[in-house]
Amino acid sequence: MREAPLDFVTSMAAYGDVTRHDADGEQVYMLNRPDLARYVLKENGSNYTKDRTPDDDMLRPLLGNGLLTSSGDEWAAQRRMCAPAFRPSEVERFDQVITDAAAGLLNRWTGCGEGQAVRVDHDLTALTLTVIVKAMLGTDIGGAGDGFGRAVDAVNRFIGHYVPGDAIDPADTAVRYAGFHQARVFLDRVTRVIIAARRTGGGGGHDLLTSMLASGHAMSDTDLRDQVLTIIMAGHETTAKSLTWTLYLLDRHPEAARAVYAEIDEVLAGRMPTAADLPRLEACRRAIQEAMRLYPPVWLISRRSVEDDVIGGYDVPAGTLVCVSPWVLHRDPRYWDEPEAYRPERFASGRAAGHLSHQYLPFGGGPRICVGQHFALVEATLVLAVILREARLELVEGFPVEPEALVTLRPRHGMMMIPRPR
Ligand code: HEM
Repeated sequence: MREAPLDFVTSMAAYGDVTRHDADGEQVYMLNRPDLARYVLKENGSNYTKDRTPDDDMLRPLLGNGLLTSSGDEWAAQRRMCAPAFRPSEVERFDQVITDAAAGLLNRWTGCGEGQAVRVDHDLTALTLTVIVKAMLGTDIGGAGDGFGRAVDAVNRFIGHYVPGDAIDPADTAVRYAGFHQARVFLDRVTRVIIAARRTGGGGGHDLLTSMLASGHAMSDTDLRDQVLTIIMAGHETTAKSLTWTLYLLDRHPEAARAVYAEIDEVLAGRMPTAADLPRLEACRRAIQEAMRLYPPVWLISRRSVEDDVIGGYDVPAGTLVCVSPWVLHRDPRYWDEPEAYRPERFASGRAAGHLSHQYLPFGGGPRICVGQHFALVEATLVLAVILREARLELVEGFPVEPEALVTLRPRHGMMMIPRPR
């Protein structure tokens, strides 16, 4: 599981719809059928908690008790508070923040000089971080923010190489954790200063922090800090990965790319996109959805059973780690025609209706489904449209591309591509 997680989960699925393996001395169940995923995430979701899952062990020391890590009534209250700020109509108001950032990136890329390769995965992570910080806090992370970007990078690196079962002591400043510790202290201070300023001076225009403060839920500064850092950390790396994989797949599939270019030319006729164009940027959206099928940024979802249960006819004792892998479900030939093929038309309007519930779950499922899914799709679609309006990205010849399943599914060697005029 540790050496080759994707091969491992795929090979386990060949044994059946419910499998069990031993990991670090505990029995782990994998559920490899959409209805079983639905059962655990939704129908009997109240019997399955995120508490003490590997994700929880890793994220809690950094994010405290935010929406991603909390559970029970506390989670329900947080979700009620956050959800209104993430409605489609709300997140669409960030369209210009997104298109400005994407245009800035494109300028840098095209200014690099003809034929110069760029590290697409890094640059997109920087882009999505800029966007989420601006949307969350209403502020640019330039200037002092440079430190912000570096701190988030250090945390991402730490999380990326976290080994399940490792206890993290956030106060541990030993060499192994030094970078992480400093970054955490830095992020904590910056967010607290911004929150304090907002509490005293009011201010803030349309941003997620303002929406949370205006929600009428009393929150301590620590709770608010947890929530702000949670949204920032949960809200950029995944979107950057889905954009990276989309650009890669479009380069490998010229026909799918041509459909995207044609749509962009027709809908935008040379201008920048806005949220109003989203319903007509369907080919862009499909290209992203299909990329998230083949390379789901969250490739494993885990829960722990609270009480004894029976899943698919098998006894599952209380306290068992139960996992669902979008990677496995998204590539199961029982549910997908030619599962390895990149075919965005699978997601043509109306077709999604042909999918079973929880057969496609890049954003998870049930009440804990990703609160930022509209944000992610709005952002990814607009960024794609801005970039592909003028450029195409070509993989550096012979560059090795291989998925690596850390916390998110990322290209193991990064993604080196050359921006070319379209
Ligand atoms: C393509 C991009 C994204 C993907 C693939 C993704 C995926 C997911 C998944 C699979 C979950 C559920 C995890 C579980 O059930 O254990 C989740 C939860 C969450 N996501 Fe996302 N996400 C993305 C973007 C975002 C964005 C943009 C934000 C915020 C702006 C965000 C914030 C969150 C939060 C706060 C949760 C926890 C929700 C809860 O438990 O109530 N995500 N995400």
